[in-house]
Amino acid sequence: MKIGSQAHKELFCRSFMESHQDMEPEKLMWPKLEGSDLERLQQIPFWEEALNTELEAGQKIAAYLPMISDPLLQEAVALMGEEEAAHGRLFKYMIQHYGIEVPGHAPAPLPKNIEQAFIDFGYGECLDAFLGFGLFKIARQSAFLPEPMFNIFDRLLQDETRHIVFFVNWVAYLLSTRGQGAPLFRSAHTLLYYGRAVQRLLGVVGRSAESSGNSFSATEASVFLEGFNINKLISTCLEENARRMSVFDDRLLKPQFLPSLAQVALSGMNLFSKRDTQTAKANLLKQ
Ligand SMILES: [Fe+2]
Ligand SMILES: [Fe+2]
Repeated sequence: MKIGSQAHKELFCRSFMESHQDMEPEKLMWPKLEGSDLERLQQIPFWEEALNTELEAGQKIAAYLPMISDPLLQEAVALMGEEEAAHGRLFKYMIQHYGIEVPGHAPAPLPKNIEQAFIDFGYGECLDAFLGFGLFKIARQSAFLPEPMFNIFDRLLQDETRHIVFFVNWVAYLLSTRGQGAPLFRSAHTLLYYGRAVQRLLGVVGRSAESSGNSFSATEASVFLEGFNINKLISTCLEENARRMSVFDDRLLKPQFLPSLAQVALSGMNLFSKRDTQTAKANLLKQ
């Protein structure tokens, strides 16, 4: 499949649209939560950030749509906008339904450069989804919340996975049609935008920590953090990324940068820990 060809465009647009599933947030199987389960959900500090991210996504897509001249691309991006709107309604419903207190910050205003905002949004989703895959699995395994809540978030993650696969194909298609599809240019583009995405994510983490104060107590966090370490997080992100990506057509591009980086980091950490163990063993033998 030649990246940037008509066949490529048809494939990534059609497979995205054909895999769409309607979601009505109010009709999902929201469980009845009480006691510590409810408290734990209420104390998670980033629900408003999640809601605003979805609302901002909807605004960026709505603003970018008129700039897309190709009808098929426009149809696919419009569908993505509908899905982001449904995600926004999901977080809004959840916040109201479970009485979650949020600071009340409004979504950020729309940036001036709309295309760049859409590209920033796409790379941001790639970063959020990759980390989200691992965090979600670890939280689910530790039964941090009742299973029905994970079923709902899993549905959301399935959409986000489709979004990032669509996005990496779209951006490669766009660069290729503009004569910027050379591997070196694409790599530089990826590196630049991931840098911006990391910066944005650090801002989100800082704001969430600030607004949560001490309410997300160590006891609550410890349920999630039991047995948690960076090695486990990275390997779970990689495993879940591979599992979730395996359902897509082999001819489609998949996000590569973060999984490759994570693999290098993991190999490096394993090498160091092996060396540490060998040194510790050697020291023991000397004694
Ligand atoms: Fe979303
Ligand atoms: Fe999305």
